[in-house]
Amino acid sequence: MPKIAVLETPDLIQDRDLRGSAAVIDVLRATSSITQAFSSGCKRLIPARTEEEARSILRENPGALISGERRGLKIEGFDLGNSPFEYSPENVRGKTVIMTTSNGTKAIIGAARARASPVFICSFLNLQAVARAYLAGGSKDLAVVCSGSHDESSLEDFACAGALVSAILSLGPPTEFVLDDPAKEAVASFKSYEGNVLAILEESPHGRYLKTIGFQKDLAYCAKVSFLDVVPVFSDGAVCHFTSRI
Ligand code: MLT
Repeated sequence: MPKIAVLETPDLIQDRDLRGSAAVIDVLRATSSITQAFSSGCKRLIPARTEEEARSILRENPGALISGERRGLKIEGFDLGNSPFEYSPENVRGKTVIMTTSNGTKAIIGAARARASPVFICSFLNLQAVARAYLAGGSKDLAVVCSGSHDESSLEDFACAGALVSAILSLGPPTEFVLDDPAKEAVASFKSYEGNVLAILEESPHGRYLKTIGFQKDLAYCAKVSFLDVVPVFSDGAVCHFTSRI
């Protein structure tokens, strides 16, 4: 029976072998922005852990865009920050984007290093699409990795993990999935908000912080559930569109 585990923070990956599928979540805002980028026609997105690493990847990929944030704000000299509104078709269609964010891009790289494959990029925006893609891949064991904030748990990522597990259970064949305790707690956390995803984002410390720096609109956008039918997946060093061959 396939097992579903939820990791509340990426540091819990340490020493684990995540062979099987993984879904990485950073609702505010890295995985929401990556989902938006692929919905807008982005060709390839290369996640980087640090600003220096991103600049060095850019030297090897002239013509790519470089993007990301620190403390929620665009890094000086970069083309784009980390607001989903910046990943419009005008900005990213047909482009390679190199992205570094405070937590999300590190969690994506961490899940792949722990041998997860495929690594789905998940947010509220593409929840049902990720659940369907996971089930289409034959329901291997699944690790849902919450990016959190500097190795602290984030309410919005944990609740989104619960929403993903709920979607899988309701869409899935009558196979019994085995949930670990954090997965059961994540489902309960999501259900306690009775579908009011915006309330989750507004209550979260990072959501409140983003409002103070002018990103109120991002919260409303990242709260749209299953609004985009796109599944970005990280494999061989880059994020691209999911195909069932991965
Ligand atoms: C992160 O990776 O920590 C976030 O995406 C930060 C942000 O909201 O820009």
